[in-house]
Amino acid sequence: MNYETPPLLRLCNISYSHPGTSASLLQDINFSINREHVGLIGPNGCGKTTLFQLIMGLLKPDSGTILLEGNAVTKSRDIKKLRRKLGFLFQHSDDQLFSPTVLEDVAFGPLNLGLSPDDARDVSVQTLEQLGLKDFEGRITHNLSGGEKKLVALATILAMKPQLLLLDEPSNNLDPATRERLIEILRGLDLAHIIISHDLDFLAATCTTLYTVQDGSLQRCEQKQVHSHEHIHPYGDYPHQHGT
Ligand SMILES: Nc1ncnc2c1ncn2[C@@H]1O[C@H](COP(=O)(O)OP(=O)(O)OP(=O)(O)O)[C@@H](O)[C@H]1O
Ligand SMILES: [Mg+2]
Repeated sequence: MNYETPPLLRLCNISYSHPGTSASLLQDINFSINREHVGLIGPNGCGKTTLFQLIMGLLKPDSGTILLEGNAVTKSRDIKKLRRKLGFLFQHSDDQLFSPTVLEDVAFGPLNLGLSPDDARDVSVQTLEQLGLKDFEGRITHNLSGGEKKLVALATILAMKPQLLLLDEPSNNLDPATRERLIEILRGLDLAHIIISHDLDFLAATCTTLYTVQDGSLQRCEQKQVHSHEHIHPYGDYPHQHGT
């Protein structure tokens, strides 16, 4: 008999094709995560965001099972429970932010979870401060810059105290200093995460395991360790690309 504690999230043989398309976008995806820091890479259009949408119950797999702490997520109350434990940062912040002011946006989740207006306000203000957004409460969300929206969107999910973060291209639109700050924030959180990104240095700084989606399947990158490095070129800062 196996007495091991089941992982927080497990995907078993998940396959999916968008309605009206014949070929499977994702095929037989198997994956589990408990407290790890996972990076997810893959070419544009390979299905990374779709995979997050499947995990969050925004799309329904054609086959396979999603398990939360060992229990299959099937009914709407299971999905609700899953969404309380997982925080999903959308690829496009405008899809995530819908309230007139920043405070209303960040407090929306905590209020929904049943916190009193005072407690929801406190946790929202604290979370904004943690993300370097002190005094942003009254700002009009619509008028924020792209990078500010990204951080406010992150605040909306952190304020709900999730156990696992699903972050879809979180470093997009961030200037170098803000990107560095986000790295520090993520490293300082005691939270599991899966980060989709094309920014390999960002993944190197925030993740210990890397997966790739290629031709519909999810593969763990066994051979390569995620790492960042600095190097010097003899001919100065002429723009260049790196191979392998
Ligand atoms: N509702 C839909 N109906 C049909 N095809 C869709 C639908 N939504 C997305 N797609 C297609 O599914 C594929 C996967 O999209 P997805 O957004 O998951 O890619 P991605 O890996 O996140 O790409 P990127 O790196 O560009 O963000 C794309 O080819 C996209 O055009
Ligand atoms: Mg995407």
